[in-house]
Amino acid sequence: MCDPHWSHVDEYLALADAVGARIGHVFETHVQADHLSGAVALAKQAGAQIYLHEAADVAFPHVVVRDGDEIQLGNDYVRVLHTPGHAPEHVCLLVGDRTRGPDPWFVLTGDTLFVGDVGRPDLHGTEDATGLAGQLHDSIWTKLMSLHDAVEVYPGHFAGSACGRWMSAKPSSTIGFERRFNPALQIRDRDAFVEYALRDLPPAPPDFATIRLQNAGR
Ligand SMILES: [Fe+2]
Repeated sequence: MCDPHWSHVDEYLALADAVGARIGHVFETHVQADHLSGAVALAKQAGAQIYLHEAADVAFPHVVVRDGDEIQLGNDYVRVLHTPGHAPEHVCLLVGDRTRGPDPWFVLTGDTLFVGDVGRPDLHGTEDATGLAGQLHDSIWTKLMSLHDAVEVYPGHFAGSACGRWMSAKPSSTIGFERRFNPALQIRDRDAFVEYALRDLPPAPPDFATIRLQNAGR
């Protein structure tokens, strides 16, 4: 399970039960600011472990992951890509199914890459949005854009969320389509990208800082 919402924990458990599966691993792409996380409640009820990047400052038990770590799930694997930018601890999760082939199948991009947009670098309790925007550029170009065009992209949000500006209403895409048509990915120059990522940002919703603290268990 990845980025569970607190209000849907019972549904996740019922869904897993219905297909005879057990939720043994709960991944958080980052400490969320826009919704109450269900990670702790879900992990407790399912007897699962929570996985977060080593840069995450949280006060609950979890497995610390770093860039390049791989978690084995039967025939599948989850490979951790550290992609700071939206938040310093942000990770994207690259998933593969070895029964289909050795190459990755899809990537959970959280709030790093959306369909038609990239994540906001100004929402996660830091004053250094410019520095994070530069890191976002590097994460995208060194990690995500090095993936094969056929890799499917499943972001954390689509249109309607305050976590981006010009997200598509389409919930998923591919690396190849975003490489060709995502406006943010047409800007290769780092400084120009930083300027773009900071442009026209709506004010951060007032409760984001409080939600983030609560999700950190503080
Ligand atoms: Fe976020």
